Amino acid sequence: MVRVIALANQKGGVGKTTTALNIAAGLLKNGQKVLLIDLDPQSNATSGAGVDKKEINFDAYDVLISNRSVKSAILKRTDNFDILPSSPELAGAEIELTKKKNRQMILKRKIAQEKENYDFVIIDNPPALGLLSLNSLMAADSVLIPVQAEYFALEGLAQLKKTIDLVKEHGNLGLTIEGILMTMTTHTKISRQVVAEVEKHFPEETYSITIPRNVRLTEAPSFGQSIFDFAGFSSGARAYNKLVKEIISKDGTEESEPS
Ligand SMILES: Nc1ncnc2c1ncn2[C@@H]1O[C@H](COP(=O)(O)OP(=O)(O)OP(=O)(O)O)[C@@H](O)[C@H]1O
Ligand SMILES: [Mg+2]
Repeated sequence: MVRVIALANQKGGVGKTTTALNIAAGLLKNGQKVLLIDLDPQSNATSGAGVDKKEINFDAYDVLISNRSVKSAILKRTDNFDILPSSPELAGAEIELTKKKNRQMILKRKIAQEKENYDFVIIDNPPALGLLSLNSLMAADSVLIPVQAEYFALEGLAQLKKTIDLVKEHGNLGLTIEGILMTMTTHTKISRQVVAEVEKHFPEETYSITIPRNVRLTEAPSFGQSIFDFAGFSSGARAYNKLVKEIISKDGTEESEPS
């Protein structure tokens, strides 16, 4: 069964795109078939995956706003890896979507058939809880929430949880929290305190795996590479590798009935 995972946090720069790119790459490395959807007008996931603007004919904007199918806009990277790229025009979609009927359900409807060709669909989102993120949350099975281990980490998490509850009430009852992922952790006291605080507030949801601050993770996307190809022995690669294993191991186990 395909799993659709949305990366969300309305706070900017917390590691959504870095996590989307590296879990997509890690899943691929583990033999999974992956569709990466870039729903952020900043297009960082698109460029970080090594897509050249010149390669893009159609993008997520066309899919959300016109009759274009996901299939016809997808870029094939390898046999097992497809991308629905983003473009700066997507910023306009936030406004244009407001005129559409069932505007928060468009992505869900559009990927309904296509997603069955994959093991995982990973959706990167902008740092806002607007219509783009809402479309992702409606289309997703779960939300993975990266949280930067800094002051004010908890700020916004309550609102995000409220939004997730609203999405559950209004059309996506099965939406779960895949996990809260502490990112850019360091050995400083403040970093440890913030991780502890988030764990205290969200003991069930917070991963025991944390992603350390690692400069290799910032360098890799400028080469269009995942951390596994760029610096396979780095602390960042090791942490994302563990996270990917954890995500895969969850597969199907939650629904299984005790026999
Ligand atoms: N573990 C890490 N160690 C060091 N740098 C990191 C790490 N994770 C992310 N970064 C860097 O921090 C910055 C923000 O990360 P990223 O782009 O993944 O966040 P984002 O949540 O997608 O941001 P936005 O909200 O703008 O889309 C980037 O420069 C990225 O390379
Ligand atoms: Mg981003």
